[in-house]
Amino acid sequence: MTRYHPALAALHWVLAGLIIGALVMGSQVLAALPNDSPDKMFSLRAHMTVGLVIGALMILRLGTRLTTQHPPKADAGNRLLNSGARAAHWGLYVLVFLMVASGIGISITAGLPDIVFGGSADPLPQTFDDLAPRVAHGVISKLLLLTILAHIAGWLYHQFVLKDGLIRRMWFGKRH
Ligand code: HEM
Ligand code: HEM
Repeated sequence: MTRYHPALAALHWVLAGLIIGALVMGSQVLAALPNDSPDKMFSLRAHMTVGLVIGALMILRLGTRLTTQHPPKADAGNRLLNSGARAAHWGLYVLVFLMVASGIGISITAGLPDIVFGGSADPLPQTFDDLAPRVAHGVISKLLLLTILAHIAGWLYHQFVLKDGLIRRMWFGKRH
């Protein structure tokens, strides 16, 4: 087996785009808008929808990962780097699920399903900043960003130092 299953590769790249997009939009656009801004509702609706789609696709991806054959563990030529890569891979799953869970937590504690999607005329709370799931969402987003940067550094190391073309394993083509 020389590559991951094509469904896993497709979901990897779709999810990478959606997750990086949610991180950038969440921190640079959504969190920067005060809750009484006229643009806040649209931004929240988009962020929450994308966040939930990420959650659903991650469940699908984890299911595919656990039920399809995959290549043997990659070797970076160093035990520490190899364990780091494994930790980062499972860490990415855990952190993304924690982002979705804490996002849903903010949404439920602030009554957002009704206000944002249910047509309720209630205004948004003045801020989400004092809600525990909001604090968690912010902290986990930073941990996720750091883990993604470490993951990309791992790819750069394989691509430009080891030159072993590891990225082909997460792309499409013959698997044997
Ligand atoms: C992997 C999925 C997700 C990512 C990467 C993500 C990312 C982010 C980021 C980076 C922020 C700003 C944090 C900060 O700067 O402190 C944020 C805020 C927020 N997110 Fe998410 N999020 C995700 C899923 C969700 C979901 C599923 C929901 C709700 C259903 C949600 C609701 C919110 C809300 C309400 C805020 C607060 C906005 C504010 O303070 O004005 N997020 N998200
Ligand atoms: C939010 C972004 C990302 C997430 C959540 C993510 C997640 C993962 C996970 C969990 C794996 C392990 C295989 C599996 O269990 O599915 C993996 C493998 C991989 N990822 Fe990412 N990834 C992201 C972005 C990227 C980016 C931007 C690159 C490169 C530019 C990249 C390159 C790779 C490569 C080359 C592998 C294969 C490693 C191997 O064969 O052992 N990923 N990714």
